[in-house]
Amino acid sequence: MCGIVGAIAQRPVSAILLEGLRRLEYRGYDSAGIAILDPAGALNRARTLGKVARLAEAVAETPMAGTLGIAHTRWATHGEPAARNAHPHVCRDRCLVVHNGIIENHEVLRRDQLAAGHRFTSETDTEVIVHAIYDELAAGGDLIDAVRRATATLRGAYALGVIDAKDPDHLVAARQGSPLVIGVGFGEHFIASDVFALLPVTHRFIFLEEGDLAELTRDEVRIWDRDGQRVTRPVTTSTISIDAAERGDYRHFMLKEIFEQPRAVADTLEGRIAGAHVVPESFGYGAPEVFQRARSVVLVACGTSYHAALVARYWIESIAGLPCTVEVASEYRYRKHVVPTDALFVTLSQSGETADTLAALRLAKESGFAATLAICNVPESSLVRESDLVLLTHAGPEIGVASTKAFTTQLVALLLLTLALGRAQSLDEATEAAMVTILRTLPTKIEAVLELDARIAALAETFVDKQHTLFLGRGEQYPIAMEGALKLKEISYIHAEAYPAGELKHGPLALIDDQMPVVAVAPNNSLLEKLKSNLEEVRARGGQLYVFADRDVPMSEEDGVTVIRLPETDDLLDPIIFTIPMQLLAYHVAVLKGTDVDQPRNLAKSVTVE
Ligand code: G6P
Repeated sequence: MCGIVGAIAQRPVSAILLEGLRRLEYRGYDSAGIAILDPAGALNRARTLGKVARLAEAVAETPMAGTLGIAHTRWATHGEPAARNAHPHVCRDRCLVVHNGIIENHEVLRRDQLAAGHRFTSETDTEVIVHAIYDELAAGGDLIDAVRRATATLRGAYALGVIDAKDPDHLVAARQGSPLVIGVGFGEHFIASDVFALLPVTHRFIFLEEGDLAELTRDEVRIWDRDGQRVTRPVTTSTISIDAAERGDYRHFMLKEIFEQPRAVADTLEGRIAGAHVVPESFGYGAPEVFQRARSVVLVACGTSYHAALVARYWIESIAGLPCTVEVASEYRYRKHVVPTDALFVTLSQSGETADTLAALRLAKESGFAATLAICNVPESSLVRESDLVLLTHAGPEIGVASTKAFTTQLVALLLLTLALGRAQSLDEATEAAMVTILRTLPTKIEAVLELDARIAALAETFVDKQHTLFLGRGEQYPIAMEGALKLKEISYIHAEAYPAGELKHGPLALIDDQMPVVAVAPNNSLLEKLKSNLEEVRARGGQLYVFADRDVPMSEEDGVTVIRLPETDDLLDPIIFTIPMQLLAYHVAVLKGTDVDQPRNLAKSVTVE
């Protein structure tokens, strides 16, 4: 999604802004732009379609001097990806705006502004903001007042960075529905969509709250809340190292993040287990009481996080003994629902900024859930700040759009939740202890399964020229099949679907022929025989089977059947272990196909619009 960077400093800012944009590339975008106010008071602007590197080339050809500027990466919503639609947008060479979010009443505002004589040069919803601010500036008052009055006419979501060519000493920022952070330097201040953009210049941040308006000078930051009251927001120091979001020697971030999983999982477990028991207080103050009172659990998430929630339903019902429902946030938020008594509402999100998940949380808080819990990877995110209880996943920054380590650490967090909930209900101490002992072996087990990398890279060649792939699983492996299909389609662009294996004969069997690879997830559990029968149905129709199986699954390689053996593990860990080869398969197929693995077309990492 769109990324914003802005700076007001005593030194030239163009290189800082371009580096900030480069660090926001992972969010997903299609065009980029920058505007700098030069020492003579003239505005210089450059906008390009495509990568930030192209924008950097344009700036190198026509250097931009100046100590105040804003920059942006755009992910198209209104208006095609094109230089003319890229931000910053300008009004009459005076006022400039970068925007993340969607202005819902842009059509009405545009009509009125056209009637008032404004000329539009883009199809974006954003352009109405810059004209509205210009009109307020022209009516008198300074930039902050103009932005305050203009934003009062907007409906929808926005994070804004605004500058006025007649005022070289102020940068104004506003946040309503889209994240924005202020970077605090010495004699300089910055704004950005997330902290990664600013790590080369500062580690001190102010996280704006919903409805905040901020005025930045080189020496000061002044903030007003949604009621117009002057407020002080805390300055927090980020512990993320500047190179945490670097690729190192890996060819892609995704591969780096796949191989980071043993460490990420160990970090998620760290401090959450005492002896052989999960520490319920890890979820926050009051968690033990909430877990005791809980009579059911509702899990809500999007994308890969939703798949983690689907796995957790099996665990929460079978281990903790509580009824559990799971729903995608974009559906949940627009549905009338019955709030069960003493239900725990759980959101899962890597970023903690996914617009639909955040809206679902806010709805849940209004509608009377007993408590809300966020399982999230970003400590400063909106989801974390707005939930009663929190468990951070400690995966470290995830840059590849296709989620990998964030997913497996979510599963670990969900296992911890299951055990803490279970103990507060009826799970006996010995069973919990046995499961914790198994959980502690997970990092080593993941290391062992990563050794399959070369084997899977070779297997990937078979998939490169395929148009479609079917993924099958049963029980808690069905969501893992879904995750395998999602990974493959999002980065290799091969159409992939997942089915619970028992559903094969209700439709998908009609698709089976020798051109349709079928990937099956087959741990040696109580459903294995059922799954094998389903796989026979595929074989009998000439389908090509690729079975990821436990070491001891009785199944032999023969014509049309390829078996990839996984190291021995325990049933409890199977969903996590079997995820790893799915990630590797998608990765290697995408590399062979030559797609943009880390930034697949049309997709965004942080989905801050609904
Ligand atoms: C996007 C990302 C996915 C992610 C999903 C949910 O689609 O590309 O990787 O799973 O959003 O994001 P969240 O941050 O809420 O987990």
